[in-house]
Amino acid sequence: MKTILVTGGASNLGSALCRAFVKRGDRVICTYSHNRFGAENLQSELGDHLVIAEMDVLSQESVTNLFQSLSSLDVLVNNSGVFTVAEQEKLPVEDWDKVFDTNVKGMFLVTQKAIPLLRKSGEGAIINIASINAFHPGFGGTAHYDASKGAVVSYTKSLAAELGPYIRVNAVAPGLLDAPSLHDDTNPIKTVFENRASLKRLVQAHEVADCVLFLSSATAITAETVVVDCGYSVG
Ligand SMILES: NC(=O)c1ccc[n+]([C@@H]2O[C@H](COP(=O)([O-])OP(=O)(O)OC[C@H]3O[C@@H](n4cnc5c(N)ncnc54)[C@H](OP(=O)(O)O)[C@@H]3O)[C@@H](O)[C@H]2O)c1
Repeated sequence: MKTILVTGGASNLGSALCRAFVKRGDRVICTYSHNRFGAENLQSELGDHLVIAEMDVLSQESVTNLFQSLSSLDVLVNNSGVFTVAEQEKLPVEDWDKVFDTNVKGMFLVTQKAIPLLRKSGEGAIINIASINAFHPGFGGTAHYDASKGAVVSYTKSLAAELGPYIRVNAVAPGLLDAPSLHDDTNPIKTVFENRASLKRLVQAHEVADCVLFLSSATAITAETVVVDCGYSVG
């Protein structure tokens, strides 16, 4: 049984990741920063194989506290991330900082603490959640988010070079994930994505989780970013 840490595991993609690892028989530590309610619900659903813990990736102290409670780790999934929309001309600098501090610096803070445990594992793996927006300008107003996810892709590659041969590092870049909010008729993004994607549909969170699970045990794959976007980027 492997020990898996999923950051921001209490909602959407994070909870799909937790479900998939628990189903495989792993022991999962699901961290939350604000969504304690979601984490507790997920724990009730998944039982003893899921442990929940608070961790704010914006706080070095909070990250340190979480790792003080861990004695082993085989797989780290850096899933926590934030998304805001504004044209660059109008983007508050606080938004730029929040997106980069969460999506990039937060990933570094967690990774730094995880490295000794992952090295000890002997089959350690890191999977970073990037986005199709690292490669595609998206729907507009997301240049700061897109740049942060581009940084995740570069970070993944460099980290893989640095941490081999004992730790593999890969990323997954999802396209637009299906969510109840997208089914509101006033939201045009769903249709724009579906029309452009070769498969003419949104990505389901469990499909991204399947890819993360594969990478967690794909022993010859490192330094890769796998795009899971229903063919959006070729449309
Ligand atoms: N939705 C999409 O279409 C899409 C597409 C491509 C990539 N992604 C990426 O997929 C990942 C998951 O996103 P999602 O769609 O599932 O959205 P989400 O439900 O908003 O999940 C984001 C997660 O990040 C956590 N988080 C935010 N700030 C944090 C902080 N300061 N410290 C620790 N955790 C923090 C949240 O935890 P709390 O709620 O507990 O604060 C939440 O669990 C993100 O990296 C996102 O960029 C999403």
